[in-house]
Amino acid sequence: MLNKKTIDDINVKGKNVLLRVDFNVPLKDGEITDDTRIKAALPTIKKLSGDGAKLIICSHLGKPKGEVKPELSLKPAADRLAELLGKEVKFLKDDNVVGEHALWAKENLKEGEIGLLENTRFRPEEEKNGEDFSKELASLADIYVNDAFGTAHRAHASTAGVAAFVKETAVGYLMEKEIQFLGNAVDDPVRPFAAILGGSKVSSKISVIDSLLEKVDILLIGGGMAYTFAKAQGGKIGKSLVEEDYLEYATQMIKKADEKGVRLLLPVDTVVAPEIDNEAKFRTVDIMAIPDNQMGVDIGPRTIALFKDALKKAKTVIWNGPMGIFEIPNFAQGTKEIAKAMAELDATTIIGGGDSAAAVNQLGFADKMTHISTGGGASLEFLEGKEMPGVAAIADK
Ligand code: 3PG
Repeated sequence: MLNKKTIDDINVKGKNVLLRVDFNVPLKDGEITDDTRIKAALPTIKKLSGDGAKLIICSHLGKPKGEVKPELSLKPAADRLAELLGKEVKFLKDDNVVGEHALWAKENLKEGEIGLLENTRFRPEEEKNGEDFSKELASLADIYVNDAFGTAHRAHASTAGVAAFVKETAVGYLMEKEIQFLGNAVDDPVRPFAAILGGSKVSSKISVIDSLLEKVDILLIGGGMAYTFAKAQGGKIGKSLVEEDYLEYATQMIKKADEKGVRLLLPVDTVVAPEIDNEAKFRTVDIMAIPDNQMGVDIGPRTIALFKDALKKAKTVIWNGPMGIFEIPNFAQGTKEIAKAMAELDATTIIGGGDSAAAVNQLGFADKMTHISTGGGASLEFLEGKEMPGVAAIADK
Protein backbone atom coordinates (compact mmCIF):
# COMPACT_ATOMS: atom_id res chain seq x y z
CA MET A 1 0.00 0.00 0.00
CA LEU A 2 1.12 3.55 -0.70
CA ASN A 3 2.84 4.98 2.34
CA LYS A 4 3.15 8.51 0.99
CA LYS A 5 1.47 11.70 2.14
CA THR A 6 -1.58 12.46 0.05
CA ILE A 7 -3.52 15.65 -0.47
CA ASP A 8 -5.88 14.49 2.28
CA ASP A 9 -2.99 14.76 4.74
CA ILE A 10 -2.10 18.40 4.07
CA ASN A 11 -3.67 21.80 4.61
CA VAL A 12 -3.48 23.94 1.48
CA LYS A 13 -5.74 26.87 2.40
CA GLY A 14 -4.11 30.14 1.41
CA LYS A 15 -0.89 28.37 0.42
CA ASN A 16 0.97 28.43 -2.89
CA VAL A 17 0.77 24.91 -4.29
CA LEU A 18 2.72 23.64 -7.30
CA LEU A 19 0.93 20.66 -8.85
CA ARG A 20 2.71 18.42 -11.38
CA VAL A 21 0.26 16.71 -13.72
CA ASP A 22 0.74 14.70 -16.89
CA PHE A 23 -0.90 16.78 -19.61
CA ASN A 24 1.22 15.08 -22.26
CA VAL A 25 -1.83 14.73 -24.50
CA PRO A 26 -2.01 13.91 -28.22
CA LEU A 27 -2.37 16.97 -30.44
CA LYS A 28 -3.32 17.34 -34.07
CA ASP A 29 -3.05 20.77 -35.74
CA GLY A 30 -3.03 22.41 -32.33
CA GLU A 31 -6.16 20.57 -31.16
CA ILE A 32 -6.18 18.06 -28.30
CA THR A 33 -7.44 14.76 -29.74
CA ASP A 34 -7.75 12.88 -26.43
CA ASP A 35 -8.21 14.70 -23.13
CA THR A 36 -8.32 11.59 -20.91
CA ARG A 37 -5.23 12.69 -18.98
CA ILE A 38 -6.66 16.16 -18.32
CA LYS A 39 -9.92 14.66 -17.09
CA ALA A 40 -7.99 12.22 -14.91
CA ALA A 41 -6.31 15.11 -13.08
CA LEU A 42 -9.58 16.94 -12.34
CA PRO A 43 -10.32 15.37 -8.92
CA THR A 44 -6.98 16.59 -7.56
CA ILE A 45 -7.27 20.02 -9.17
CA LYS A 46 -10.82 20.48 -7.85
CA LYS A 47 -9.83 19.35 -4.37
CA LEU A 48 -6.81 21.69 -4.13
CA SER A 49 -8.60 24.66 -5.65
CA GLY A 50 -11.74 23.95 -3.61
CA ASP A 51 -9.71 23.86 -0.41
CA GLY A 52 -8.33 27.33 -1.12
CA ALA A 53 -4.91 26.65 -2.63
CA LYS A 54 -3.32 29.26 -4.87
CA LEU A 55 -2.66 26.68 -7.50
CA ILE A 56 0.10 26.66 -10.11
CA ILE A 57 0.01 23.59 -12.34
CA CYS A 58 2.88 22.32 -14.47
CA SER A 59 3.45 19.54 -17.02
CA HIS A 60 5.58 18.56 -19.96
CA LEU A 61 4.16 18.06 -23.45
CA GLY A 62 5.92 15.98 -26.09
CA LYS A 63 9.68 16.03 -26.54
CA PRO A 64 10.85 19.59 -27.31
CA LYS A 65 14.29 18.63 -25.96
CA GLY A 66 14.98 21.81 -24.04
CA GLU A 67 13.93 24.16 -26.82
CA VAL A 68 10.93 26.43 -27.13
CA LYS A 69 8.65 24.80 -29.70
CA PRO A 70 5.46 26.85 -30.09
CA GLU A 71 3.58 23.81 -31.43
CA LEU A 72 4.23 22.11 -28.08
CA SER A 73 2.89 24.95 -25.97
CA LEU A 74 0.55 23.94 -23.15
CA LYS A 75 -1.88 26.73 -24.07
CA PRO A 76 -4.42 24.29 -25.59
CA ALA A 77 -4.30 22.28 -22.35
CA ALA A 78 -5.00 25.43 -20.31
CA ASP A 79 -8.02 26.16 -22.50
CA ARG A 80 -9.32 22.60 -22.24
CA LEU A 81 -8.82 22.52 -18.49
CA ALA A 82 -10.75 25.78 -18.13
CA GLU A 83 -13.58 24.31 -20.22
CA LEU A 84 -13.70 21.13 -18.13
CA LEU A 85 -13.59 23.01 -14.83
CA GLY A 86 -15.97 25.74 -15.94
CA LYS A 87 -13.62 28.35 -14.49
CA GLU A 88 -10.69 30.46 -15.53
CA VAL A 89 -7.24 28.93 -15.88
CA LYS A 90 -4.58 31.59 -16.36
CA PHE A 91 -2.00 30.46 -18.89
CA LEU A 92 1.39 31.62 -17.58
CA LYS A 93 3.11 31.98 -20.91
CA ASP A 94 6.77 32.20 -19.98
CA ASP A 95 9.01 30.50 -22.55
CA ASN A 96 11.49 29.98 -19.71
CA VAL A 97 8.63 28.39 -17.68
CA VAL A 98 9.39 30.27 -14.47
CA GLY A 99 9.34 33.86 -15.72
CA GLU A 100 7.44 37.06 -15.08
CA HIS A 101 3.99 35.50 -15.54
CA ALA A 102 4.72 32.65 -13.15
CA LEU A 103 6.17 35.03 -10.57
CA TRP A 104 3.16 37.31 -10.97
CA ALA A 105 0.88 34.31 -10.32
CA LYS A 106 2.78 33.38 -7.20
CA GLU A 107 2.19 36.84 -5.75
CA ASN A 108 -1.28 37.53 -7.07
CA LEU A 109 -3.34 34.34 -7.38
CA LYS A 110 -6.22 34.37 -4.93
CA GLU A 111 -7.36 31.34 -2.97
CA GLY A 112 -8.86 28.77 -5.35
CA GLU A 113 -7.43 30.43 -8.48
CA ILE A 114 -5.46 28.40 -11.00
CA GLY A 115 -2.54 29.06 -13.34
CA LEU A 116 -0.78 26.69 -15.74
CA LEU A 117 2.92 27.04 -16.53
CA GLU A 118 4.39 26.61 -20.01
CA ASN A 119 5.82 23.20 -21.05
CA THR A 120 8.51 22.27 -18.51
CA ARG A 121 10.55 20.59 -21.27
CA PHE A 122 11.14 23.97 -22.91
CA ARG A 123 13.93 24.11 -20.32
CA PRO A 124 16.97 21.90 -21.01
CA GLU A 125 17.47 21.38 -17.26
CA GLU A 126 14.09 19.64 -16.89
CA GLU A 127 15.08 16.21 -18.19
CA LYS A 128 18.48 16.48 -16.48
CA ASN A 129 16.77 17.00 -13.14
CA GLY A 130 18.81 20.21 -12.89
CA GLU A 131 19.04 21.67 -9.41
CA ASP A 132 18.70 25.30 -10.45
CA PHE A 133 15.48 24.68 -12.38
CA SER A 134 14.18 22.51 -9.53
CA LYS A 135 14.79 25.46 -7.18
CA GLU A 136 13.10 27.90 -9.58
CA LEU A 137 10.02 25.69 -9.66
CA ALA A 138 10.11 25.27 -5.90
CA SER A 139 10.33 29.04 -5.43
CA LEU A 140 6.75 29.24 -6.71
CA ALA A 141 5.26 27.19 -3.90
CA ASP A 142 5.18 26.14 -0.27
CA ILE A 143 3.76 22.75 -1.18
CA TYR A 144 4.51 20.44 -4.11
CA VAL A 145 1.94 17.85 -5.17
CA ASN A 146 2.76 15.19 -7.74
CA ASP A 147 -0.24 13.72 -9.56
CA ALA A 148 1.63 12.87 -12.78
CA PHE A 149 1.52 9.09 -12.64
CA GLY A 150 2.28 8.91 -16.38
CA THR A 151 5.62 10.65 -15.79
CA ALA A 152 6.43 9.22 -12.36
CA HIS A 153 9.07 6.92 -13.88
CA ARG A 154 11.12 9.97 -14.92
CA ALA A 155 13.55 11.62 -12.50
CA HIS A 156 13.10 15.13 -13.87
CA ALA A 157 13.20 18.54 -12.21
CA SER A 158 9.40 18.92 -12.14
CA THR A 159 8.70 15.31 -11.14
CA ALA A 160 11.44 14.66 -8.60
CA GLY A 161 14.09 17.37 -8.08
CA VAL A 162 11.66 20.10 -7.05
CA ALA A 163 10.41 18.09 -4.07
CA ALA A 164 13.63 18.62 -2.13
CA PHE A 165 13.21 22.41 -2.10
CA VAL A 166 9.66 22.91 -0.81
CA LYS A 167 8.26 22.75 2.70
CA GLU A 168 5.74 19.98 2.12
CA THR A 169 5.02 17.32 -0.47
CA ALA A 170 2.14 14.98 -1.27
CA VAL A 171 0.76 12.78 -4.03
CA GLY A 172 -2.57 13.56 -5.69
CA TYR A 173 -5.64 11.37 -6.12
CA LEU A 174 -4.72 10.06 -9.56
CA MET A 175 -1.31 8.91 -8.39
CA GLU A 176 -2.95 7.27 -5.39
CA LYS A 177 -5.59 5.54 -7.50
CA GLU A 178 -3.14 4.28 -10.12
CA ILE A 179 -0.80 2.82 -7.51
CA GLN A 180 -3.70 1.28 -5.65
CA PHE A 181 -5.15 -0.48 -8.71
CA LEU A 182 -1.87 -1.58 -10.25
CA GLY A 183 -0.35 -2.42 -6.87
CA ASN A 184 -3.30 -4.48 -5.63
CA ALA A 185 -3.53 -6.34 -8.90
CA VAL A 186 0.10 -7.32 -8.82
CA ASP A 187 0.65 -7.85 -5.10
CA ASP A 188 -2.64 -9.29 -3.97
CA PRO A 189 -4.54 -10.51 -7.02
CA VAL A 190 -7.70 -12.57 -6.96
CA ARG A 191 -6.62 -15.69 -8.84
CA PRO A 192 -6.34 -16.97 -11.48
CA PHE A 193 -4.25 -13.93 -12.38
CA ALA A 194 -3.53 -13.45 -16.08
CA ALA A 195 -1.34 -10.92 -17.86
CA ILE A 196 -1.49 -10.13 -21.55
CA LEU A 197 1.56 -8.50 -23.07
CA GLY A 198 1.98 -7.16 -26.55
CA GLY A 199 3.14 -4.11 -28.42
CA SER A 200 6.05 -3.31 -30.62
CA LYS A 201 8.56 -1.98 -28.10
CA VAL A 202 10.10 -5.42 -27.81
CA SER A 203 13.08 -4.74 -25.55
CA SER A 204 11.16 -2.55 -23.12
CA LYS A 205 8.35 -5.10 -22.82
CA ILE A 206 10.49 -8.17 -22.57
CA SER A 207 11.96 -7.20 -19.21
CA VAL A 208 8.51 -7.00 -17.61
CA ILE A 209 7.96 -10.66 -18.39
CA ASP A 210 10.59 -11.67 -15.89
CA SER A 211 8.81 -9.82 -13.12
CA LEU A 212 5.30 -10.98 -14.10
CA LEU A 213 6.37 -14.62 -14.25
CA GLU A 214 6.89 -14.39 -10.49
CA LYS A 215 3.29 -13.36 -9.99
CA VAL A 216 0.84 -14.53 -12.64
CA ASP A 217 -0.83 -17.88 -13.30
CA ILE A 218 -1.25 -17.27 -17.01
CA LEU A 219 0.84 -15.13 -19.37
CA LEU A 220 -0.30 -14.43 -22.91
CA ILE A 221 2.18 -12.89 -25.31
CA GLY A 222 1.13 -11.29 -28.58
CA GLY A 223 2.04 -8.24 -30.64
CA GLY A 224 5.47 -7.42 -32.03
CA MET A 225 7.50 -9.24 -29.42
CA ALA A 226 5.85 -12.60 -30.11
CA TYR A 227 8.02 -12.98 -33.21
CA THR A 228 11.18 -12.87 -31.11
CA PHE A 229 9.76 -15.82 -29.16
CA ALA A 230 8.79 -17.63 -32.36
CA LYS A 231 12.28 -17.19 -33.76
CA ALA A 232 13.87 -18.28 -30.47
CA GLN A 233 11.91 -21.52 -30.81
CA GLY A 234 13.24 -22.13 -34.32
CA GLY A 235 10.41 -20.51 -36.27
CA LYS A 236 10.76 -18.78 -39.64
CA ILE A 237 9.46 -15.25 -39.10
CA GLY A 238 10.07 -13.57 -42.47
CA LYS A 239 10.33 -9.77 -42.20
CA SER A 240 8.62 -9.62 -38.79
CA LEU A 241 9.86 -7.47 -35.94
CA VAL A 242 12.61 -9.22 -34.02
CA GLU A 243 15.26 -8.36 -31.46
CA GLU A 244 18.13 -10.70 -32.07
CA ASP A 245 19.70 -9.73 -28.75
CA TYR A 246 16.70 -11.11 -26.89
CA LEU A 247 16.43 -14.56 -28.48
CA GLU A 248 18.33 -16.19 -25.64
CA TYR A 249 16.29 -14.23 -23.11
CA ALA A 250 13.05 -15.43 -24.73
CA THR A 251 14.20 -19.03 -24.43
CA GLN A 252 15.08 -18.48 -20.77
CA MET A 253 11.64 -17.00 -20.11
CA ILE A 254 9.89 -20.00 -21.64
CA LYS A 255 11.97 -22.19 -19.32
CA LYS A 256 11.25 -19.98 -16.33
CA ALA A 257 7.49 -20.13 -16.99
CA ASP A 258 7.75 -23.89 -17.04
CA GLU A 259 9.68 -24.01 -13.77
CA LYS A 260 7.24 -21.61 -12.08
CA GLY A 261 4.20 -23.51 -13.31
CA VAL A 262 2.97 -20.45 -15.23
CA ARG A 263 0.89 -21.16 -18.31
CA LEU A 264 2.75 -19.18 -20.96
CA LEU A 265 0.85 -18.97 -24.22
CA LEU A 266 2.36 -17.68 -27.43
CA PRO A 267 0.53 -17.10 -30.72
CA VAL A 268 0.09 -20.17 -32.90
CA ASP A 269 -0.97 -18.30 -36.01
CA THR A 270 -0.47 -14.78 -37.30
CA VAL A 271 -1.85 -12.39 -39.87
CA VAL A 272 0.89 -11.47 -42.33
CA ALA A 273 1.26 -8.79 -44.98
CA PRO A 274 4.15 -7.66 -47.19
CA GLU A 275 4.01 -4.15 -45.69
CA ILE A 276 2.31 -2.03 -43.05
CA ASP A 277 -0.48 -0.64 -45.16
CA ASN A 278 -4.24 -1.14 -44.99
CA GLU A 279 -4.24 -1.69 -48.75
CA ALA A 280 -1.68 -4.52 -48.46
CA LYS A 281 -2.88 -8.05 -49.20
CA PHE A 282 -3.02 -10.01 -45.94
CA ARG A 283 -3.58 -13.63 -44.91
CA THR A 284 -3.15 -15.92 -41.94
CA VAL A 285 -0.26 -18.36 -41.59
CA ASP A 286 1.37 -20.53 -38.92
CA ILE A 287 3.56 -18.26 -36.78
CA MET A 288 6.49 -20.65 -37.20
CA ALA A 289 6.31 -20.52 -41.00
CA ILE A 290 6.06 -16.91 -42.13
CA PRO A 291 7.16 -16.48 -45.76
CA ASP A 292 10.37 -14.47 -46.33
CA ASN A 293 8.62 -11.49 -47.94
CA GLN A 294 5.89 -11.22 -45.29
CA MET A 295 5.70 -9.77 -41.78
CA GLY A 296 3.47 -10.56 -38.84
CA VAL A 297 0.98 -7.73 -38.21
CA ASP A 298 -1.63 -9.28 -35.88
CA ILE A 299 -2.47 -12.49 -34.04
CA GLY A 300 -4.52 -14.96 -36.05
CA PRO A 301 -7.98 -16.47 -35.36
CA ARG A 302 -6.67 -19.68 -33.76
CA THR A 303 -4.59 -17.58 -31.35
CA ILE A 304 -7.58 -15.36 -30.56
CA ALA A 305 -9.59 -18.47 -29.66
CA LEU A 306 -6.71 -19.88 -27.61
CA PHE A 307 -6.22 -16.62 -25.68
CA LYS A 308 -9.96 -16.14 -25.09
CA ASP A 309 -10.25 -19.63 -23.71
CA ALA A 310 -7.27 -19.09 -21.38
CA LEU A 311 -8.84 -15.89 -20.05
CA LYS A 312 -12.26 -17.39 -19.38
CA LYS A 313 -11.67 -18.32 -15.75
CA ALA A 314 -9.31 -15.44 -14.89
CA LYS A 315 -10.32 -13.23 -11.97
CA THR A 316 -7.64 -10.57 -12.45
CA VAL A 317 -6.32 -9.55 -15.85
CA ILE A 318 -3.69 -6.96 -16.69
CA TRP A 319 -3.15 -5.99 -20.30
CA ASN A 320 -0.24 -3.98 -21.69
CA GLY A 321 0.37 -3.63 -25.41
CA PRO A 322 -1.80 -4.29 -28.47
CA MET A 323 -1.82 -7.65 -30.24
CA GLY A 324 -1.12 -6.18 -33.67
CA ILE A 325 -0.80 -2.92 -35.55
CA PHE A 326 -4.26 -1.86 -34.39
CA GLU A 327 -4.07 1.63 -35.93
CA ILE A 328 -4.50 -0.12 -39.29
CA PRO A 329 -8.07 -1.46 -39.50
CA ASN A 330 -7.13 -4.70 -41.28
CA PHE A 331 -4.61 -5.53 -38.54
CA ALA A 332 -6.79 -4.60 -35.55
CA GLN A 333 -8.85 -7.76 -35.20
CA GLY A 334 -6.68 -9.45 -32.54
CA THR A 335 -6.55 -6.35 -30.35
CA LYS A 336 -10.28 -5.82 -30.78
CA GLU A 337 -11.13 -9.40 -29.84
CA ILE A 338 -8.90 -9.35 -26.75
CA ALA A 339 -10.46 -6.04 -25.64
CA LYS A 340 -13.91 -7.55 -26.16
CA ALA A 341 -13.00 -10.71 -24.26
CA MET A 342 -11.72 -8.63 -21.35
CA ALA A 343 -14.83 -6.46 -21.38
CA GLU A 344 -17.00 -9.57 -21.03
CA LEU A 345 -15.05 -11.11 -18.13
CA ASP A 346 -16.33 -11.23 -14.58
CA ALA A 347 -12.92 -10.14 -13.31
CA THR A 348 -10.84 -7.16 -12.27
CA THR A 349 -9.58 -5.86 -15.59
CA ILE A 350 -6.72 -3.40 -15.76
CA ILE A 351 -5.33 -1.76 -18.87
CA GLY A 352 -1.71 -0.76 -18.44
CA GLY A 353 -1.85 2.52 -20.32
CA GLY A 354 -0.18 3.58 -23.55
CA ASP A 355 -1.25 1.92 -26.80
CA SER A 356 -3.54 -0.64 -25.15
CA ALA A 357 -5.43 2.15 -23.39
CA ALA A 358 -5.71 4.00 -26.69
CA ALA A 359 -6.97 0.80 -28.33
CA VAL A 360 -9.59 0.18 -25.65
CA ASN A 361 -10.76 3.80 -25.82
CA GLN A 362 -10.85 3.77 -29.60
CA LEU A 363 -12.73 0.48 -29.72
CA GLY A 364 -15.34 1.72 -27.23
CA PHE A 365 -14.66 -0.72 -24.37
CA ALA A 366 -13.32 1.84 -21.88
CA ASP A 367 -16.31 1.81 -19.52
CA LYS A 368 -16.22 -1.99 -19.35
CA MET A 369 -12.79 -2.10 -17.70
CA THR A 370 -12.09 -1.82 -13.97
CA HIS A 371 -9.18 0.57 -14.45
CA ILE A 372 -7.40 2.12 -17.41
CA SER A 373 -4.02 3.51 -16.44
CA THR A 374 -2.98 6.96 -17.70
CA GLY A 375 0.63 5.79 -17.75
CA GLY A 376 2.26 3.96 -20.64
CA GLY A 377 5.94 3.61 -19.77
CA ALA A 378 5.11 4.38 -16.14
CA SER A 379 2.68 1.49 -15.68
CA LEU A 380 5.14 -0.83 -17.36
CA GLU A 381 7.93 0.18 -14.99
CA PHE A 382 5.52 -0.16 -12.09
CA LEU A 383 4.69 -3.71 -13.18
CA GLU A 384 8.41 -4.43 -13.42
CA GLY A 385 8.59 -3.56 -9.72
CA LYS A 386 10.87 -0.56 -10.25
CA GLU A 387 10.85 2.32 -7.80
CA MET A 388 9.33 5.42 -9.39
CA PRO A 389 11.36 8.60 -8.80
CA GLY A 390 8.21 10.75 -8.89
CA VAL A 391 6.74 8.77 -6.01
CA ALA A 392 9.98 8.26 -4.09
CA ALA A 393 10.46 12.06 -3.95
CA ILE A 394 7.28 12.51 -1.91
CA ALA A 395 7.38 12.47 1.91
CA ASP A 396 6.24 9.35 3.73
CA LYS A 397 3.07 9.52 5.80
C1 3PG B 1 4.05 9.32 -21.43
O1 3PG B 1 3.31 9.78 -22.31
O2 3PG B 1 4.35 8.12 -21.36
C2 3PG B 1 4.52 10.26 -20.35
O3 3PG B 1 3.91 11.49 -20.43
C3 3PG B 1 6.02 10.37 -20.35
O4 3PG B 1 6.45 10.92 -21.53
P1 3PG B 1 7.93 10.64 -22.07
O5 3PG B 1 7.98 9.20 -22.50
O6 3PG B 1 8.16 11.62 -23.19
O7 3PG B 1 8.87 10.88 -20.92
